[in-house]
Parts: sequence; structure tokens; C-alpha cells
Amino acid sequence: MDFKTTILLTTLLFALVAKINGSALNASHYQYQVAEQRTPAYTQIEYIVLKQSDTMRQWGTNLTGITWAHAVNSQQLLDEVIGNTDIDFIEADIVLGKLNGEGEDMPVMAHPPANISDLTLAGFLHQIIEFNREHEEQAKGVKLDFKSIEVFEGSLDILDENIPNMTFSPVWINADILSGPVDQNRTVPVDADRFFAGCMRYKQAVLSIGWTTNWGADFRDGEYTQSQCDAMLESLNANNILSTGQAITFPVRAGIAANSEEQLHRLVAAVNETNDSTLTVWSSAGDYVDVDKLRKLIFSFGLDRVYLDVPEELASQLNLGNPGNGAGTFKSLFGFSFVSLCFWALSSWLQRL
Ligand SMILES: *[C@@H]1O[C@H](CO)[C@@H](O)[C@H](O)[C@H]1NC(C)=O
Ligand SMILES: *[C@@H]1O[C@H](CO)[C@@H](O)[C@H](O)[C@H]1NC(C)=O
Ligand SMILES: *[C@@H]1O[C@H](CO)[C@@H](O)[C@H](O)[C@H]1NC(C)=O
Ligand SMILES: *[C@@H]1O[C@H](CO)[C@@H](O)[C@H](O)[C@H]1NC(C)=O
Ligand SMILES: *[C@@H]1O[C@H](CO)[C@@H](O)[C@H](O)[C@H]1NC(C)=O
Ligand SMILES: *[C@@H]1O[C@H](CO)[C@@H](O)[C@H](O)[C@H]1NC(C)=O
Ligand SMILES: *[C@@H]1O[C@H](CO)[C@@H](O)[C@H](O)[C@H]1NC(C)=O
Repeated sequence: MDFKTTILLTTLLFALVAKINGSALNASHYQYQVAEQRTPAYTQIEYIVLKQSDTMRQWGTNLTGITWAHAVNSQQLLDEVIGNTDIDFIEADIVLGKLNGEGEDMPVMAHPPANISDLTLAGFLHQIIEFNREHEEQAKGVKLDFKSIEVFEGSLDILDENIPNMTFSPVWINADILSGPVDQNRTVPVDADRFFAGCMRYKQAVLSIGWTTNWGADFRDGEYTQSQCDAMLESLNANNILSTGQAITFPVRAGIAANSEEQLHRLVAAVNETNDSTLTVWSSAGDYVDVDKLRKLIFSFGLDRVYLDVPEELASQLNLGNPGNGAGTFKSLFGFSFVSLCFWALSSWLQRL
């Protein structure tokens, strides 16, 4: 029997197992449901709305209860989310490109490699400002994810004009300023010193600063290493950010953060010496995530220190309404022994073929 056939049979078996024992697999390892729909990284515009069963808006102490619309990079998506009362925060990506593919290069809403959009950064901000002004009680927060230092510096005039008007809800300015796990070397990080220099103009904005990442459905090992966390701290110190009192959140990719509890605690504790900071756990659809370890990480920081911008499926598996620790361990043990049993059954069966 060749390798491909073995893989096929294993996949079929997992599909069967998932049907029989969906809840145990769901609880222990997120990848089983998504292994077959492996989307290529960085291509499609994602659109993930995280509706929580509880429709009450929770801008209070439970930060994981804040709901996100992710990659809102077109006029159509903005129309869909802006009046949606289930959405608290709008996340969008900014690249240097062309409006409808014509004219001058300018900051537009798109995720690399795309660089054509029907929505400019200016248009995006104007519409949100107008909405928030007219619907103060449902004002949306905004997270602006700048994909290069060129587009960030090219956006400063637009930000200068608009950020002072964004008083109804939080504005986050995000960039991946350091190379991160796992040995990420394809995406060039945004130049940290130039990014911080631009951000100085917006004291009221939250700095959301992270690492580029290399992760997906096939990854298991990988962590935010101590040296990557130290580099973040050095960059913050070198740019005098910790003495300004500006709010900071560290965006961390769910599957990798789950393996990095110690290092992330050290980083947050070090930043906390001068001021409070939070984590923002995000995930791409299809990423491998060890749900039990991620859950442990979130509770170790507390629900008042972690924002959660992940696909709805992962959010519900985290079961954050239930802080008890017994059920998760039982489920993962059960899941593990069931999977082992299946491997044993499969190998016995293969030997007979
Ligand atoms: C597994 O998770 C999926 C998606 O969240 C859900 O639709 C399904 O009902 C779950 N299965 C079980 C058995 O809990
Ligand atoms: C947009 O992408 C095209 C195709 O990859 C490239 O030729 C062009 O230079 C890009 N434009 C900008 C402003 O980066
Ligand atoms: C921002 O506020 C200033 C002063 O109130 C106003 O002139 C400007 O038009 C506003 N910009 C937007 C985009 O609303
Ligand atoms: C990126 O890392 C991989 C694995 O370590 C290596 O094979 C590849 O040559 C590197 N690419 C660049 C552009 O450095
Ligand atoms: C922390 O930030 C606040 C403003 O958000 C500021 O008032 C306070 O002085 C800062 N604390 C320290 C220790 O820098
Ligand atoms: C933040 O620092 C203060 C003072 O050092 C400490 O009392 C507090 O426990 C720290 N909080 C966290 C979450 O580390
Ligand atoms: C916090 O929010 C999450 C997500 O909405 C919810 O599942 C959980 O029950 C909340 N926990 C508390 C203690 O409010």
C-alpha cells in the first residue's frame, strides 16, 4: 500500500471518527474539522463575524466578549457590518494600491497580495466616523492593520485628519514589527522605529504590535520564543514607548500563543512595570490550535486581559463561560484514548490488506 492510500484511509477514518465522536475531537483538537479545507495563506479576503450567543454588548471587564468583524476590506463588507449591532470592533487591512485599479497609488483597504480595492482608507474612516457620530450608543471600534511601513507613512495625513474625530470608540493601530514564529522569513516586518515615530502623533490610539507569523493547519510545534519577546521589549524601550503611558496590546496567533504561556507572561509582566497591556488572540481559519492549551493561556491571563478575534467555531470550543478545569482534562483524555484506539484499529486493518 502506498503512502497516498494510507493518507486517504487515515483521512476517511478521521472523518468517521469525527462523526462518531465529534464532541471529544472538537474539544481537544481544532484541526480535525478543517484539515481538508486548507485555504492558502494570505490570498482570500476573510470575513469572520463572531456573533456571541449573548447579544448584550460587553465592553466591560470581559474583553473576550467583544465581537469582531475581520478583514473588512471592501465597501460591501463595510456595508454589512457597519449597521450590525452584533459587531463591536471592525478590523481591516491597509496596503498601498489603487482604487478600482486606476489612478494614483494610495492607501486602500486590502490584504496582500491584493492591492486593488473599491474602498480607500479615507473612505473607510469617513464612513465609520459618520456612523459612530450618528449612533453613539453602538459606536464601533476600529483596528487598522498596516501591512508595510510605506503604506503607514503614506497614511499619516489621512490619520492626522481623521483620528481626532474618532472620539466615540477606540482606534487601534496595528503592525507586525518583528519577524516571528515559526522561522518566518517571507513577509518583511514593518520597520519598528519608523512605525513608533508615526504613532507618537496619536496618543489616544492603542498600539497593537506583533510579530509576522508562519503557521497553518500542518503546524504543531512553534512558540513565541524568549528572544522574540525580548526583541519586542527592546524595541519598546528603544523608542521610549513604555514611559508614554500609551495603551499596548500584543496580537498573538492562537495556535502559537497556546505554546508560549511562559514567555508571554514574562513579556506582559515586563511591560506592566510601567503600564497595563493586553493580548489579542487572533487566528486564521484552518490554523491548527490546541484548544485546551489556548484555554489555559486565556484563563491564566484572565478574561480582562485578553481580546479574542478568532473564528466562531474556535471561540465556542474554548467554552469560556465555564472556567472549571475538570471537564477539559476529561474530554482531552477521552479524545486522546479514542484516537489511539482508532490508530490501533487502523493499523491492524492495514496489516490485513
Ligand atoms: C463540533 O463543532 C461543530 C462546529 O462548532 C459543531 O457544529 C458540531 O455540532 C460539534 N459537534 C459536536 C458533537 O459537538
Ligand atoms: C500591485 O500589485 C501588482 C502585481 O503584483 C504590482 O505590479 C504593483 O507594483 C503593485 N502596486 C503597488 C503599489 O505595490
Ligand atoms: C473632523 O473634524 C473637523 C473639525 O470638526 C472637520 O472639519 C472635519 O471635516 C472632520 N472630518 C471628518 C472626516 O469628519
Ligand atoms: C526561509 O527559511 C527557510 C527555512 O529555514 C529557508 O529554506 C529559506 O531559504 C529562507 N528564505 C529566505 C528568503 O531567507
Ligand atoms: C499609565 O498610563 C496612564 C494613562 O493611560 C498614566 O496616567 C499613568 O501615569 C501611566 N503609569 C505609569 C507608571 O507610567
Ligand atoms: C502589574 O504590576 C503590578 C505592580 O508591579 C502588580 O501588582 C500586578 O500584579 C501586575 N499585574 C499583572 C497582570 O502582571
Ligand atoms: C466572557 O465572554 C465570553 C464570550 O462571550 C463568554 O463565553 C463568557 O461566558 C464570559 N465570561 C464571563 C465570566 O463573563
